[in-house]
Amino acid sequence: MNVVIIFVQNSLHMSSKLLEGKTGIISGALNDKSIAWKVAELCHFHGAKVVLTNAPIAMRMGEINGLAEKINAPIFPADATSEQDLQNLFQGSMEHFGGKIDFVLHSIGMSPNVRKGRHYTDLNYEWYKQTLDVSAMSLHKMLSVAWKMDAINDWGSVVALTYIAAQRIFPDYNDMADAKSLLESIARSFGYHYGSAKKVRINTISQSPTVTTAGSGVKGFDGFINYSELMSPLGNADAEACANYCVALFSDLTKYVTMQNLFHDGGFSNTGVTQAVVEKFGS
Ligand SMILES: NC(=O)c1ccc[n+]([C@@H]2O[C@H](COP(=O)([O-])OP(=O)(O)OC[C@H]3O[C@@H](n4cnc5c(N)ncnc54)[C@H](O)[C@@H]3O)[C@@H](O)[C@H]2O)c1
Repeated sequence: MNVVIIFVQNSLHMSSKLLEGKTGIISGALNDKSIAWKVAELCHFHGAKVVLTNAPIAMRMGEINGLAEKINAPIFPADATSEQDLQNLFQGSMEHFGGKIDFVLHSIGMSPNVRKGRHYTDLNYEWYKQTLDVSAMSLHKMLSVAWKMDAINDWGSVVALTYIAAQRIFPDYNDMADAKSLLESIARSFGYHYGSAKKVRINTISQSPTVTTAGSGVKGFDGFINYSELMSPLGNADAEACANYCVALFSDLTKYVTMQNLFHDGGFSNTGVTQAVVEKFGS
């Protein structure tokens, strides 16, 4: 009897393709460390048809072509700060899929001030504008383009990736903290409008520090990620785990979750101190 039950459970698990019949746009896959890369692979595994996009400059690295082949996805280059590029992206995706889109991943972040080591008290304001434009306003632009083209299906799902520096100070995160605050606010505000009009849900996932090109660009990242590991009861969530959470949010299992900032951080955000940290500082 037990054997039969185990068999039924396993076959249920094996065949559960959470995104069967769904179509999605995934931005931000730069290399196989990128969170978006893992999300794209897992969406494909779960039966979704995917379009990949990244900044034209990221295409030059060429690594995204390998992913595109592997999951049989076309690539539409688009600078996420360009409304024209985003229109072409949504238009091209709808033509490719032969219909509207079910889910979108915004996995885009970049700060010239972080890259060039400008201190928060002495920001270059042209670069500051770029940080906000690339890392936050691009979500508004994506949503606004999709809204005007009516490109997302009813009950569609949009997820953007963020970090807890939006709520608490992490000094080396610099002006990216301001960008993430704006990003989370846009998800809430647009989530209201898109939800009321089309039942489209919009959320941000606040991810643990993760070893990627963007992540490692933050000064003192090693110390940062180790501290976070010690301060999280479950340990840091990695990129694969983040991909699982994205798939859950794209799926029909989370239809009434919207306008939320969802911490995916092993408990870090609600932890004051852990035994491991106490022991490190104890006499
Ligand atoms: N790595 C971490 O520790 C961590 C933690 C929390 C949140 N996040 C967020 O996750 C997201 C993905 O970052 P990642 O860690 O996978 O690093 P990543 O460097 O692999 O991805 C960042 C992506 O942004 C793209 N990009 C930059 N400028 C662009 C533009 N103008 N138009 C279109 N795309 C552009 C890059 O080409 C790259 O693919 C970012 O929003 C990041 O802030 C990362």
